[in-house]
Amino acid sequence: MCGIVGYIGREQAAPILLEGLSRLEYRGYDSAGVAVFDAQAGALAVRKAKGRLQVLSDQLHGGADLDSTVGVGHTRWATHGAPSDINSHPQVSRSGKIAVVHNGIIENYAELKGFLQSKGVPFVSETDTEVVAQLIEYFYDGDLLAAVGRVLRRIQGAYALGILCADCPDQIVAVRKDSPLILGYGEGCNFITSDVTAILRHTRSVGYMEDGELAVLTREGIRCCNHLMQPIEKEIVTVDWEMDAAEKGGYEHFMFKEIMEQPEALRRCLSPRIREGEIVFEDFSLDQDYIKNMRRIYIVACGSSYHVGMVGKYHLERLTRIPVEVALGSEFRYMDPIVDDHTLVIVISQSGETLDTMAALREARRLGGHILSIVNVVGSSIARESDQVLYTWAGPEIAVATTKAYTTQLALLSLLALWLAKRLGTVPEEDFRSMLAAFQELPDKMEEVLSRREDIQYFASRYFNHDSIFFMGRNIDYALGLEGSLKLKEISYIHSEAYASGELKHGTISLIEDGTLVVALSTYSGLFAKAMSNVVEVKARGGSVLALTVEPRKAEMAQTADGVMTIPDIHNLLLPCLGVVPLQLFAYYVALMRGCDIDKPRNLAKSVTVE
Ligand code: F6R
Repeated sequence: MCGIVGYIGREQAAPILLEGLSRLEYRGYDSAGVAVFDAQAGALAVRKAKGRLQVLSDQLHGGADLDSTVGVGHTRWATHGAPSDINSHPQVSRSGKIAVVHNGIIENYAELKGFLQSKGVPFVSETDTEVVAQLIEYFYDGDLLAAVGRVLRRIQGAYALGILCADCPDQIVAVRKDSPLILGYGEGCNFITSDVTAILRHTRSVGYMEDGELAVLTREGIRCCNHLMQPIEKEIVTVDWEMDAAEKGGYEHFMFKEIMEQPEALRRCLSPRIREGEIVFEDFSLDQDYIKNMRRIYIVACGSSYHVGMVGKYHLERLTRIPVEVALGSEFRYMDPIVDDHTLVIVISQSGETLDTMAALREARRLGGHILSIVNVVGSSIARESDQVLYTWAGPEIAVATTKAYTTQLALLSLLALWLAKRLGTVPEEDFRSMLAAFQELPDKMEEVLSRREDIQYFASRYFNHDSIFFMGRNIDYALGLEGSLKLKEISYIHSEAYASGELKHGTISLIEDGTLVVALSTYSGLFAKAMSNVVEVKARGGSVLALTVEPRKAEMAQTADGVMTIPDIHNLLLPCLGVVPLQLFAYYVALMRGCDIDKPRNLAKSVTVE
């Protein structure tokens, strides 16, 4: 997804911008560019290149070619117009006086472009962003802020903007609406960025811009104002993420590092919340009356976070007896959802910036739902717009394919289900105790799974050259299969689908032929016999079966399946948290053996901030 970095200070800007942009590469992008104020020429210098950031950096000799102490940089993930040098950001106005970097989408750009064209303004790119640069110049009469203000009143959509003007060489203007933008406060220098990772080397003092806010950065400070252009005081907070946490830490890929970090991430997420035999949510509470009168729970999310919701539905309904609907963020606002003030809406998002999830959140709020979000990125848009937030505390997740965010979301949602059940009186005390004990065992058991990763590597070496792989399971194992299948297809590019095992005979079984690989998930002991009969069905049609089950069932499963992956037994509530780890490792090793770009799979972005 697009990334923004801006710098104004006393050092050379271009190397700082390029280094900052390199920290954002993990977000996924297809081109990059920078604009700086070239004091000698008295004009803006803009350089852009399609492809990896390295291409741009090589062209600029690491930034040495541009002599300037103020500039903005961008990594672009194409929305309007194909990836190309011309369509990359910064986009500039016709005279070259205004340069703009932009994350988001200007929804009414076609209408505005038509207006400007009718006034004789020529356009060179296919982007919506060029409209912003051209419109600022159109309104500009020597007062940049006034021109920006007029543009903001006309553009619709989502935007984080960094703006440079050749007439104002000692400032950067920043604007935010529905797309994240962060201010960085340094010594004699200041920054803007869409992601704090890009500026952590320079400062840990940041301010999160709110929707409608505008900021003017100079070397001496940052002035902020609201949408009415009235001055406001921005709260400056200190970011305590270590830079190391955002680096690969010796592993070949961020994804592998993040898989291995899961026990630690779970400890961070769970330990402060389980104290003296009770669940303690210091960061959150729900009124007892509200809980008692809750009629429905909605879980809203996209991708892997949605899969967390699919598992969560089983747990929440089993434990609380409250009906749970799970909806895709992208569908929710179009399906006329039944939400009222007795509906708890649980919004799940790693990034906290997924646009579809955010739109669903707003729709749920409009309908009167109470919004509780489960989010990883602190201070993200979804976190800030929710009534309440439970942070997963998984630390920065860099690989595009989520791993530690998934397991921490799932653990936290499961803990929430148990907490609600306790408050509702729908869980016997003895069961509550044994479930709570399982949460405490979870990180150690996960370490055990990770320590046996060679077993999974072996299965990956057996099956990595398959063209198509199916996952099947029932109940929580079905929900787990959805995630296992997504993980595999997104990073290895192998075609893969997940089915509820019982659906096999309703159509899917026609796909099974000699050698077809089916990953049969059977961690849930209550349905082991049913799972076995599906394994037999697949085998009878010539398919190969790689099973996943709990250790006590291994021998039985091995009598029929071609290979068996195992996890230690644990309470049903936490089986998917453990069970997903062999599936993550399987996907990882398969992708590795196929030579795929694991951390940055093609066409994918870490944070999807467009519809
Ligand atoms: C898959 C993956 C995506 C995300 C989805 C939602 O590995 O990472 O499917 O889960 O884009 O993102 P968040 O959780 O940031 O809202």
